[in-house]
Amino acid sequence: MDSGQQFLHDTRYASDKEEEPSDQQKGLPQPPLELPFDVAVPVIDLPDPHALNIPDITLQEAINRRHSIRLYRDEPLSMQELSYLLWSTQGVKAVTARPCTLRTVPSGGARHSFETYLMVRSVAGLEPGIYRFLAIEHKLLPVMHGQGIPAQMARMCKGQKMVELSAVTFIWAAVPYRSVWRYRQRAYRGLFLDAGHVCQNLYLAAEAVDCGVCAINAFEDDDLNAYLGFEAEQQFVIYCASLGKKPESERAAG
Ligand SMILES: Cc1cc2nc3c(=O)[nH]c(=O)nc-3n(C[C@H](O)[C@H](O)[C@H](O)COP(=O)(O)O)c2cc1C
Repeated sequence: MDSGQQFLHDTRYASDKEEEPSDQQKGLPQPPLELPFDVAVPVIDLPDPHALNIPDITLQEAINRRHSIRLYRDEPLSMQELSYLLWSTQGVKAVTARPCTLRTVPSGGARHSFETYLMVRSVAGLEPGIYRFLAIEHKLLPVMHGQGIPAQMARMCKGQKMVELSAVTFIWAAVPYRSVWRYRQRAYRGLFLDAGHVCQNLYLAAEAVDCGVCAINAFEDDDLNAYLGFEAEQQFVIYCASLGKKPESERAAG
C-alpha cells in the first residue's frame, strides 16, 4: 500500500472496525475556537464587514467568470476589499453556546480548524508583511515585517511567480486538534475538504472586487511551516492562494 492508500485505509469508517473513543467522548476539554495570541501586540482594525461598499454582482456572474489568474495589476487592494475577502472566506457569523463558531463557509461539525495568515504586499494603509487574521475579532495581528518576504514566499511556493506579484497571498493553516478532538484520525480528511470551501469562496468573492485568484497546493511544507514559526503538530499550512487586481487583458475579457 502506498502512503496515500495507507492514509485512506487508516482513516476509513467501517462497520467491522472498532473505533477508539475520541478525546471529546473521553471528556477532555474542547480546544479553543482560535489559537491564543499575545494581547500585548496591538491589533489592526478592519472595516466592519457588514457596512462595506462592495459592488453587487450576481452569484451566477461570479461562477461564470471565475478562473485561475496568475498575473495581477500592480495596484493595491483597499482595506475594505481585504475585510470583505476575509469575511467571505472565514468570517464568523456567530459564536454559539456549544461553543463553536458559525462562519461564512461550512465545516464538518462546525470545527472550523483554520487560522488565516496573509502575506501582504500591497494593501493601502497596511505595512507589507505577514499578518494573522483573528476571525472572531475580525482584526489583523501583525506577525512579521521585513524586506524580501514576497520573494521568500514565492521560493517556498516552488518558485511560482504569482506569489511575488500578488497583492495578498492567503495562507490557510490547519489546527488539527480542533477536529481530531471530536473525529480522531478521520478529522484529517475533513480538514482538506473544509479548505476547498474556503478557497472557492475566495475565488467567487474576488470577482466582485475586480481581483483574480490562483489556488496553490505546490509549496514546501516544512520550509513554510518553519518560516511561519508553526510548532510541529500544532498547525500546518494546508492551502494557499495568491490574489491581486486583474490585469487589463482580463478586464477587457469581462
Ligand atoms: C487544490 C488545488 C491546488 C492548486 N494548486 C495550484 C498551484 O500550486 N499552482 C497553480 O498554478 N495552480 C494551482 N491550482 C489551480 C489549477 O491549476 C486550476 O484550478 C486548474 O488548472 C483549472 O483552471 P481554472 O481554475 O482556471 O478553472 C490549484 C487548484 C486547486 C483546486
